Amino acid sequence: MMEQLKNKNVVLCVTGGIAVYKAVELLRLLQKQGAKVRVIMTRAAMEFVTPLTFQALSGEPVFTDLFNDNTVDASIRHIRWAEDADLVVVAPATANIIGKMAHGIADDALSTFLLAVRSRIVICPAMNTAMYESRAVQRNIDILENDGCLLIEPGVGDMACGTSGAGRFPAPADIVDRILTLMTPKDLKGRCVLVSAGPTREAIDPVRFISNHSSGKMGYAIARAAERRGAMVTLVSGPVDIEPPLHVKLVKVQSADQMKEAFLDAMGDADIAVKVAAVADYRVKNQAEHKIKKTEEQLVLELEKNPDILKCAGQKKRSDQVLVGFAAETQDLKENAVKKLEAKNLDMIVGNLVGGGKGFGTDDNTVTFFFKDGRVESLESMDKDQVAHILLDRILSLHSKGQ
Ligand code: C5P
Repeated sequence: MMEQLKNKNVVLCVTGGIAVYKAVELLRLLQKQGAKVRVIMTRAAMEFVTPLTFQALSGEPVFTDLFNDNTVDASIRHIRWAEDADLVVVAPATANIIGKMAHGIADDALSTFLLAVRSRIVICPAMNTAMYESRAVQRNIDILENDGCLLIEPGVGDMACGTSGAGRFPAPADIVDRILTLMTPKDLKGRCVLVSAGPTREAIDPVRFISNHSSGKMGYAIARAAERRGAMVTLVSGPVDIEPPLHVKLVKVQSADQMKEAFLDAMGDADIAVKVAAVADYRVKNQAEHKIKKTEEQLVLELEKNPDILKCAGQKKRSDQVLVGFAAETQDLKENAVKKLEAKNLDMIVGNLVGGGKGFGTDDNTVTFFFKDGRVESLESMDKDQVAHILLDRILSLHSKGQ
């Protein structure tokens, strides 16, 4: 869970389209981020999914009607909810509500509420492609964007009406991703952040390789967090099974040699470089050109040392750059981490104990920061996304101090 939506009041405005059922999933995902979500529905939306579904999941009565509502504060609920809202999400947003919002029309509970909102409004249009591309809808969307609403572009693909094109409701997880970005202060704006992540693969022959258990989750979390905070991010990644963060420059590599080239290449433009990748320390000396046959009883592989990419980066580092390494250890964390900090000319190293189910592949991480000036900071076990944000906070203060 990220902090940006924790305890925030979010109002989910559901208008009538076939995608209403996906708004149920969106509600759940917003709650997973710690948001307190209230729901308002139009009459048309209730034709698709009953308010009871949203009521049961949000734990609050769904606001549907300005007048025929017996609850005490019904007549002013649209104002109260608008005042309380930290964020409003209109999803799915029909052509009708987009038109009404653009022109200040308030003729039901939902549109009246929207007029009273002062917080940010996110709109997720979902409709038939021809409707979405119509001049009227595009004109109205322009008006709303000029008014400060955030538009989440609909997806392109097969539509319920049998056609294919723009107008699909985006994946709820992508909507939440964009919302988290919107809600994150842009304190890394204008800075270039370089991150390496994942394992490397060292080929034995054309079909086999040596690698390690790195999942890439920690590095990807740092890249995602930096992008959300406004940085321009380059992510040099070994082979992993996770989705890359949106809007980062992804450079895919396999071997340590390839990672070295990509990382050092990008280093020149970087203000901040974080080397999370678990680089294989050794590679096979004489890679077989063809698949090795199982004819011998014993097979001996000769290994040679890979370049230490971080050490090379440390040698190249300018005084205006901050360079951070990771040290995954199975024992003597402090001693080993501090040694690497010095040997590789780093500003900071993040130590974590791995093995025994810790570190690799998990969503949580328990880390300790070791700084060049001797300071040590141990964090409790937490989500890798949270570790990423705290790490970026510390890096930012080093970078601002010009270290
Ligand atoms: O020396 P060790 O591998 O434990 O150091 C870990 C740090 O060094 C990590 O930040 C890792 O990305 C980096 N490293 C590297 N090139 C290597 C080995 C490690 O950049 N060949």
